[in-house]
Amino acid sequence: MHLNAISLVNFKNFDQLEFKFTPKINCFVGNNGVGKTNLLDAIHYLSLCKSFFNSVDSQNIRYEQDFFVIQGSYSRNDQEEKIHCGVKRNSKKQFRRNKKDYQKLSDHIGFIPVVMVSPGDNVLITGGSDERRRFMNGVISQFDKQYLEDMITYNHALVQRNILLKDFAKKRKFEQDALDVWTEQMIAPGERIYRSRMMFIEKILPVFRRYQEFVSLGREDVGLVYESQLEGEDFRDLLERSVEKDRILQYSTCGIHKDELLLSLGNHPIKKSGSQGQQKTYLIALKLSQFEFIRNINGFHPILLLDDIFDKLDGNRVEQIIKLVSDKKFGQIFITDTSSERLQNIISETGIEYSIFEL
Ligand SMILES: Nc1ncnc2c1ncn2[C@@H]1O[C@H](COP(=O)(O)OP(=O)(O)OP(=O)(O)O)[C@@H](O)[C@H]1O
Ligand SMILES: [Mg+2]
Repeated sequence: MHLNAISLVNFKNFDQLEFKFTPKINCFVGNNGVGKTNLLDAIHYLSLCKSFFNSVDSQNIRYEQDFFVIQGSYSRNDQEEKIHCGVKRNSKKQFRRNKKDYQKLSDHIGFIPVVMVSPGDNVLITGGSDERRRFMNGVISQFDKQYLEDMITYNHALVQRNILLKDFAKKRKFEQDALDVWTEQMIAPGERIYRSRMMFIEKILPVFRRYQEFVSLGREDVGLVYESQLEGEDFRDLLERSVEKDRILQYSTCGIHKDELLLSLGNHPIKKSGSQGQQKTYLIALKLSQFEFIRNINGFHPILLLDDIFDKLDGNRVEQIIKLVSDKKFGQIFITDTSSERLQNIISETGIEYSIFEL
C-alpha cells in the first residue's frame, strides 16, 4: 500500500501544494520551519483523522483562513483509494473515501495504517505512565475495535466510580450496591484490555530486541516489561479487596489504568541511564516493532513517517536505520531532514528508489 499523491489547501503553513510520490523512499528537505513536519502530519491526518501534534483541528488551519483540505490518492490492494479530509471552522470534520462520506471517523481508522517516528516520542520515556498506556492503546486500537470499545466502557465506569468514592467521603456514607454497578462494568473490559496489552508486548518484544541490536550495532541491552496489577490475579477479587483502600483514598486504586511499561537499558530505567541518542534509538526500535506488528496483522505495510531522523543520532546509527527500512519488509517511507546532501549520501548507497522534495 502506498500514497501516490497528496494535495493540500490551507493546511498549516501551506496555502496550496501538490506532490507525487514514489512507492519507496520520499524525503522532505529544507531549513527549519519550512513545513517538513507539517507534511508528515498531513499524511498522518489522512490515516488517523487527526494531527499527530495538535488535537484541536481548527488550529491546523492556515492562519487567517477558515478551512483546510487534505486529499490523498493511494494504491491499496491494487485499487485506487481517494481520501478526502476537510476541516472548516465551527463545522464538523469531513472525511470521505472515494467521494463517499464516512458516518463515523472510527470506520476509517486502520484503513491506511501509519507509524510516525518523531522527536516528540520522547515523552514515552520522560513522561508519566499514562504516556506509555496511550502508546499501547494507540497501536492496539488501530486494528482492534473491541479494544477501543472496551477502553471507552472502562474509562467511563472508572470516572463514575471515582466520582462516587469522592461523594461517599464528602457525605460520610457508603453504598456498596451503588459502587458495585460501576465496579462490575470495569471487570470484563479490564480483563480483555489486560490480555490484549500482554499479547501485544509479548509479540513485539523479540522484534524490538532485534531492531535495537541492529541499530545500536549490538552495543545495547534493553528491556521492555509490561507490569499490571492484574497479573496472576482475578480482577474481580482484586477490586473487592481494594474497596477499603479506595474508600480511604477516594479513588480506584486497582485496574488497568495503573498499568506500566518498564523501559530499561542495561538493567536501569532508560529515563535515568540512557543518553539522548540511546533513548532515541530505543524509541525508534520500539516504533519499528510497532510497524512490524501492524504489518503482520494487516498483511500489508503501514506507511512509515520518520521525522528528524538525524537529530541526536550518530551517522552509524542513521545508516543502520536507513538500511533497515530500505528492506522489502518495509514499504513506503517519508523522511525529513534539513540537509539534502547528507540524506542523499546515505540513501543512494542502498540503491533504493527515492525522491527528494525541496521545500
Ligand atoms: N496554522 C498554521 N498556519 C500557518 N502556519 C503554521 C500553522 N501551524 C504551524 N505553522 C507554521 O509551520 C512552521 C513549522 O513547520 P514545521 O514544524 O513543519 O517545520 P519543519 O520544516 O519541520 O522545521 P524543523 O526543521 O525545525 O523541524 C512554523 O513556522 C509555523 O509557524
Ligand atoms: Mg520538523
